[in-house]
Amino acid sequence: MNFKNKTVVITGGAKGIGGSCSEKFVSAGANVCILDIDEKGKDLAEKLGTNAVFYKCDVSAEQEVKQTFENIKEQFSEIDILVNNAGIQRYGKITETTEEEWDLVMNVNLKSAFLCSKYAIPLMQNKKQACVINVASVQAFISQQNVAAYTTSKTALLGLTRSIAVDYAPNIRSVAVCPGTVDTPMLRAAIQLSPDPDEVYQECVDMHLPKRVGTSDEVAELILFLASDNASFITGQAIRIDGGLGISISGSKRD
Ligand SMILES: NC(=O)c1ccc[n+]([C@@H]2O[C@H](COP(=O)([O-])OP(=O)(O)OC[C@H]3O[C@@H](n4cnc5c(N)ncnc54)[C@H](O)[C@@H]3O)[C@@H](O)[C@H]2O)c1
Repeated sequence: MNFKNKTVVITGGAKGIGGSCSEKFVSAGANVCILDIDEKGKDLAEKLGTNAVFYKCDVSAEQEVKQTFENIKEQFSEIDILVNNAGIQRYGKITETTEEEWDLVMNVNLKSAFLCSKYAIPLMQNKKQACVINVASVQAFISQQNVAAYTTSKTALLGLTRSIAVDYAPNIRSVAVCPGTVDTPMLRAAIQLSPDPDEVYQECVDMHLPKRVGTSDEVAELILFLASDNASFITGQAIRIDGGLGISISGSKRD
């Protein structure tokens, strides 16, 4: 896949799945704008060379997003691809979730995708083919216990994806990517909350049919394909990359 002369904006592009996207899009020739609150994005942009630029931006805050997209417009004029990837995980059932936690998860996981799309789409209008990728989760389809706000935010991203697809066709597509468990700093931080992180990691491995968790590079490869012109007939869909999580019927071991 060749993304030469394309401008790609990646939220949460400093590390994890977003970091792999930043690396792979630069390798494929794109100009990459890394939007993140983590200064590690600056180090990554420096490592990736002149085709990568770091913008420190809390993507859940409208004024910061607006200003950042004005800066991107000044530097690159137009945008070809937006990857709404920034996200956070918080645990709790509804009765245990505070209003602040609920709002935080909704703002970072959902409102950010709305805001970045709002300011990116006007910069895509002259493009023959542009694309908004929303990184949701397999939890948009099946759910763990204790992640009510996260699951709700990820499920709502599928609605946002469809709305962008129908409102901005034919030249702008939108696709949601729904990963199973992926080995990233988010996963490592999440399992550290358990008294036995190794056991939780092993549970994650065992849940997936290939008996491993996914890698951020695998998810990034899918995102590059879906954002490429090779995927120009795919829009409005949610694509799972989840090692078959949740498709197996447990119980009898009869052949
Ligand atoms: N890791 C998994 O198992 C998994 C599974 C399914 C979906 N996802 C989703 O994939 C996406 C990436 O997850 P990851 O595992 O790479 O996470 P990560 O925590 O490793 O990386 C997320 C990045 O987003 C940035 N970020 C967080 N809040 C931000 C904000 N307000 N503004 C700007 N940047 C912000 C972080 O600084 C970080 O660099 C998330 O949306 C996550 O929900 C992850």
